[in-house]
Amino acid sequence: MTKDGTIQPPYFNIDPDQAMLDLEAPVNTKGFASIAEACSRGRDDLASRGMNESGHKKLRLFSTWEITRYLIPLATPHFRRVLRSNPDLPQGSSETDGGAKWFTLDEVLKLRAHFAAEGSKSKEYVPYRPKGLPAKIVAVANFKGGVGKTSTAAHLAMSAALDGYKVLVIDLDSQGSMTSIFGGKVEDEWGTVFPLLARHYATHQRQANQSRMDRGEAPVPLDETLTEALKIKAQDVIQSTHWPNIDLIGAQLNLYWSEFQIPVWRMQGRGWKLWDALTDVLEADGVLDDYDIVFLDTPPALGYLTINGLAASDILLVPLGASFLEFDSTGRFFDMLHSTFQSIEDGENMAARALGREELNFEWDAVRTVITRYDGAQQGELGSLMQAYLGKTLSPHRQDFTALIGQAGEQVNGIYEADYRDFNRETYARGRQTFDETYAAFKRLLLGSWRRDEIDAQEMTHGET
Ligand SMILES: Nc1ncnc2c1ncn2[C@@H]1O[C@H](COP(=O)(O)OP(=O)(O)OP(=O)(O)O)[C@@H](O)[C@H]1O
Ligand SMILES: [Mg+2]
Repeated sequence: MTKDGTIQPPYFNIDPDQAMLDLEAPVNTKGFASIAEACSRGRDDLASRGMNESGHKKLRLFSTWEITRYLIPLATPHFRRVLRSNPDLPQGSSETDGGAKWFTLDEVLKLRAHFAAEGSKSKEYVPYRPKGLPAKIVAVANFKGGVGKTSTAAHLAMSAALDGYKVLVIDLDSQGSMTSIFGGKVEDEWGTVFPLLARHYATHQRQANQSRMDRGEAPVPLDETLTEALKIKAQDVIQSTHWPNIDLIGAQLNLYWSEFQIPVWRMQGRGWKLWDALTDVLEADGVLDDYDIVFLDTPPALGYLTINGLAASDILLVPLGASFLEFDSTGRFFDMLHSTFQSIEDGENMAARALGREELNFEWDAVRTVITRYDGAQQGELGSLMQAYLGKTLSPHRQDFTALIGQAGEQVNGIYEADYRDFNRETYARGRQTFDETYAAFKRLLLGSWRRDEIDAQEMTHGET
């Protein structure tokens, strides 16, 4: 403060000698290791607070109120009556005699199956998925960091699971945020998608070797990694989570190695279609039959893993905040997507045309940008402007900034894992509603694209007969 009482800005009058005394010794490379170590200890401490005795995350219980309000379309008295007359069904547990009944998600799923089998056919107890058609793959991506990719993907995975779908989440980001959210344990790159991509390449190389031998040329031997990868199936890297109907292929720092390895493979095996790798492997291992929806969380970069994820996806969601910088950079992201996929198509189709083969044309069922962390009081104008320019490409629902998400972070992740009793009911209902609406907007795309496939498939069979 100066003599006349005005407060000076904090950057005036810093004494260089005092500043020097406050400073620690210069940081060397080892310094990074000790910072990393401190973070890792703190992280384990935080993570352990959301875990039970066995070191695994545990999902909260669901009350009768929540089940009949949000999960199974039933009137509460009817729900209670059905439980009373079916003692074999899960009865839930209560904390006090005659208190409210709480159920595990596993029990909720059993109840849902019961109502689907026995209940009114006019009600939607089990969500729509056309028979015989593969799971839909959904990528959540944006070049820009911190826009809500992981939060959106995690919340969608959880709401789809609560809605009764069987979900697989694949973490393609070596930061492993999604893996932490689902309590995944990954030792090294062999517990990630890496060996699956390696297997796809190895399979290609094996076929290329066969052709070499047929031409009387020497085969190119597969190295140890590739030989090992040939033995690995998707099921070997899929782990279960604390959600009974969400499984995970996790990520860990070593996954980043793929960004260096994949271009080397591309150089060695020019005919390898890396963009098909993920889809081919998931299809070959039956994953697309075992699950209803596969969510891919991607890193904030347009590297090889992201390209793989984007190429594999049927639905692409691009989260962004309603701010000038995020809008601007998202525009550039689409520009990059255009040039990347265009150059892959051009490269492939030159050869395809020469050989009279079918051309490669990437196609997505739907591409939507989604406004996240929206603050209606501040961002209304920008939101409307973005809506005007992006039209249908912008999802109509803006996902509100929800303080509950940040608060929940330490022990549980996001609104669906939080116990509503910890919050004011009004606050909870509002927070939940914005994510329920994000899910509803996504579910429209999902059902619409499945239905389109179903009708196409029916027309194909009718066309044949
Ligand atoms: N709707 C929301 N309300 C409040 N906070 C949010 C919301 N969505 C995301 N956040 C917060 O914003 C931050 C960034 O979100 P998130 O990690 O999902 O972004 P990301 O795009 O996956 O980041 P990265 O590029 O690093 O992978 C997180 O702290 C998250 O808790
Ligand atoms: Mg993320």
